[in-house]
Amino acid sequence: MRAVVLAEPGAPVQVEQLALDPPGAGQVRVRMLASGVCHSDLHVRDGDWERPGPIVMGHEGAGIVETLGPGLDPVASGLQPGQLVALSWVVPCGACRSCRAGRSWECQDSPSFGHGRDAGGHTRLHRADGSEVLAYLSIGTMAEAQVVPSGAAIPMPAGTPPEVAALIGCCVATGVGAVIKTAAVPAGASVAVIGLGGVGLSVVMGARLAGAGQLVAIDRVAAKLELARELGATDTLLAGADPASTADALRATTGGGPDFAFEAIGRPATAELAIEALPPGGTAVLVGMTPQGQRASFDVYRFVDGGRRVLGSNYGSAVAALDFPRYAALHLEGRLPIDRLIDRRIELDGVEDAFGRLRRGEGLRSVIAF
Ligand code: APR
Ligand code: ZN
Repeated sequence: MRAVVLAEPGAPVQVEQLALDPPGAGQVRVRMLASGVCHSDLHVRDGDWERPGPIVMGHEGAGIVETLGPGLDPVASGLQPGQLVALSWVVPCGACRSCRAGRSWECQDSPSFGHGRDAGGHTRLHRADGSEVLAYLSIGTMAEAQVVPSGAAIPMPAGTPPEVAALIGCCVATGVGAVIKTAAVPAGASVAVIGLGGVGLSVVMGARLAGAGQLVAIDRVAAKLELARELGATDTLLAGADPASTADALRATTGGGPDFAFEAIGRPATAELAIEALPPGGTAVLVGMTPQGQRASFDVYRFVDGGRRVLGSNYGSAVAALDFPRYAALHLEGRLPIDRLIDRRIELDGVEDAFGRLRRGEGLRSVIAF
């Protein structure tokens, strides 16, 4: 089985041949069909986020169920061999305060965060010398096959294209969910989206779906603005080097600021821009994830005086088992053109090149097609 492995943060990823144990209790083996390359993978690759290693990369994937671990009921789980599944990078623990409150996307104790280690601390992936290899968020999708927790494998409706299912597993759930779930944007509200990668363009699609009024798309790369318009943006702004002038332009375009400003890059400066550009009563929704430990600031008096709000949105407040099939159904109905986010199919050995494109803000989603 070939997989993209990060041996240590900061070094290039490499394709390795690994052995994959059969699924244990509560697990399924999935043959991967598609895996997107997300900016979060780049954060891990560059060491922006502390993660253990060596680790199989990838967290935006879909595939076909091959074998079920012992005791798993194919009817109750919906996981018959041959079933197309999208993979979720959080399987809620079910017991923590957030899970008990019905907000499983906030779960901090998810077994997914063991990156493929079982209760005994062992992984199902091995190098030829027998040493263990982890799987990012217990799904490590940049691999020809994986053994994943059964709760991470979400059955998708018949006819869902595998690469669409893959993107639902991260950027679509994150971006569309930020609009319709986290922020619950009402019809007619004005919306700004800062950063138009896979996540930001999903925010644009979500805002369209929610019936947003004015929809302003912002990026520093002009080519992104064009696609945002095709996906429903009513206005576009090319961001320059100075966030203050982008904030001024956004206020001018929206008659004083957008009701909702989404940050989908993961930079303190653009998070500040999203807050700064708000009118009284406006809401900034922070979707992008910065490197760990970074801080942002805002004018507290002005913020409080105007009754503004800031929301953090993780995974678009997704309940995967419920939301993933809904997003797929919306796609099949023609209301979420997820396929438009993909502009390149690559092989396993093309991931470093795809990271380079992400760094430069070049092109759209690269998807590994297996
Ligand atoms: N001003 C405006 N646009 C910018 C700026 C900036 N200063 N810096 C980057 N961008 C644009 C890029 O041109 C690109 O179009 O932001 C976009 C980021 O997109 P991707 O790199 O494709 O990232 P994506 O996968 O969409 O993830 C965005 O969400 O989940 C998190 O970790 C993820 O923090 C990342 C964010
Ligand atoms: Zn992602």
